[in-house]
Amino acid sequence: MTLRVADEGSTVALHAYYVSNRAHLQPWEPARSSGFFEIDAVASRLRSMATQTATGNALHLLLFEHESGELLGDCNFTNVVRGPFQACHAGFSIAMDAEGKGLMREALTAAIPYVFKIMGLHRIMANYRPENIRSGLLLARLGFEKEGVARSYLQINGSWADHVLTSLINPDDLD
Ligand SMILES: CC(C)(COP(=O)(O)OP(=O)(O)OC[C@H]1O[C@@H](n2cnc3c(N)ncnc32)[C@H](O)[C@@H]1OP(=O)(O)O)[C@@H](O)C(=O)NCCC(=O)NCCS
Repeated sequence: MTLRVADEGSTVALHAYYVSNRAHLQPWEPARSSGFFEIDAVASRLRSMATQTATGNALHLLLFEHESGELLGDCNFTNVVRGPFQACHAGFSIAMDAEGKGLMREALTAAIPYVFKIMGLHRIMANYRPENIRSGLLLARLGFEKEGVARSYLQINGSWADHVLTSLINPDDLD
């Protein structure tokens, strides 16, 4: 697997990923209008991701299978807040056919040191629906600690959904 910064060059691949994984991702993501899946909208979001990444306001990565070049998933670190907080939110998804092989663990294991050492952030927050067992196991395995449950936290698939709040602190900032 190769991780690449998201940019407009991946428009066709990301469009195919969204379309073929629409039902798989729907329970865990905001309700999407049909416009979300149009190729021009995908290109526009990728341009914005590239700008956000270039300016250090986010890190948007895409996961590609080495040999086929197929886009397998994405992971991103957004909502970067500087000042005394130095924190961001992590988000991730992988194709249904690629689940359960440790690929997202591998991707995040590579990306997180970049967020801490190069972007210089102190805290990565990642929140998941209690029903999302895979996501919870993945975050626990990576060392994210549970901080509580936020009621009615995000509007997911059309309804306000409770979320488990977790975070990982930059180990270099701990005594
Ligand atoms: C959450 C998600 C990114 C995990 O990706 P993944 O590549 O399958 O994750 P990994 O294989 O690296 O690790 C998943 C964990 O779930 C476990 N797992 C594998 N198959 C499982 C299954 N059928 N049921 C429950 N857990 C399972 C793995 O054993 C692993 O835990 P471990 O490290 O303790 O062994 C992926 O399931 C996904 O894209 N889901 C839909 C979108 C989503 O939920 N995004 C996150 C929103 S918070």
